[in-house]
Amino acid sequence: MDGNGRWAKRRHLPRVAGHRAGVAAVRSTVETAARIGIHAITLYAFSEENWKKRPKSEVDFLMRLLGRYLKAELPTLNNNNIRLEYIGRRRELPEDVQERMEWARESTAKNTGTVLTLALNYSARSELVDAFRSIVKAASQNGGVEHLKIDEDTIREHLYTRHLPDPDLVVRTSGEMRLSNFLLWQLAYAEIYVTPTLWPDFRGVHLLEAIAEYQKRERRYGGLNGDSHAQPRHPTHEKAVN
Ligand code: FPP
Repeated sequence: MDGNGRWAKRRHLPRVAGHRAGVAAVRSTVETAARIGIHAITLYAFSEENWKKRPKSEVDFLMRLLGRYLKAELPTLNNNNIRLEYIGRRRELPEDVQERMEWARESTAKNTGTVLTLALNYSARSELVDAFRSIVKAASQNGGVEHLKIDEDTIREHLYTRHLPDPDLVVRTSGEMRLSNFLLWQLAYAEIYVTPTLWPDFRGVHLLEAIAEYQKRERRYGGLNGDSHAQPRHPTHEKAVN
């Protein structure tokens, strides 16, 4: 969800005004995703790097905004049958925010529609480090590391995203052409869509445009043009646009 700062700067507003405006974009995008039956949508809200490289006042504002969002949007999430999940090192977030997150997660746990995953204090490299640590820990509790067998499924099962299929489409706003440490393992075969629209201006209609573009792509997963056998080694949910 990139471009909040630039959106604010263009209006001669403080950066945090861009973050505040970004909430309307979240609402519109998530509601549209649910309405058209997208299986899963994952929003990169705060990276691990965001904490270290931004002024404390901005980080504090983002924390308060997240807390307010979780409370204010709960009825919308429930009305749209959306289940909330998180990825990232959430134990490093302020305790009151963690409590609010858990409360919101539990309050949507019964929902069976779109899975909305918020990436908070997230870094794909840290996710891989945590996955490898978790694999070794599990092995040492189950007969020792000498019997450890690791394949792609082992790694997948220890990622934060074990509840999700691999993404089909990644949408990057504000024209940036980078992955910025987001879902590096999971995006192996994802289609990438870059739009110049700044995040606070992004709405459901822009998501629909991204999906229309995605539908024109030919996904080959390393196979050949027109290869009907082309598919990922671990096929994702058929309708999933994550
Ligand atoms: C990146 O834009 C955006 C963020 C670091 C924060 C994203 C947060 C929101 C959209 C607020 C609402 C979200 C939730 C889930 C409540 P930037 O500040 O890096 O923009 P810039 O690149 O233009 O400076």
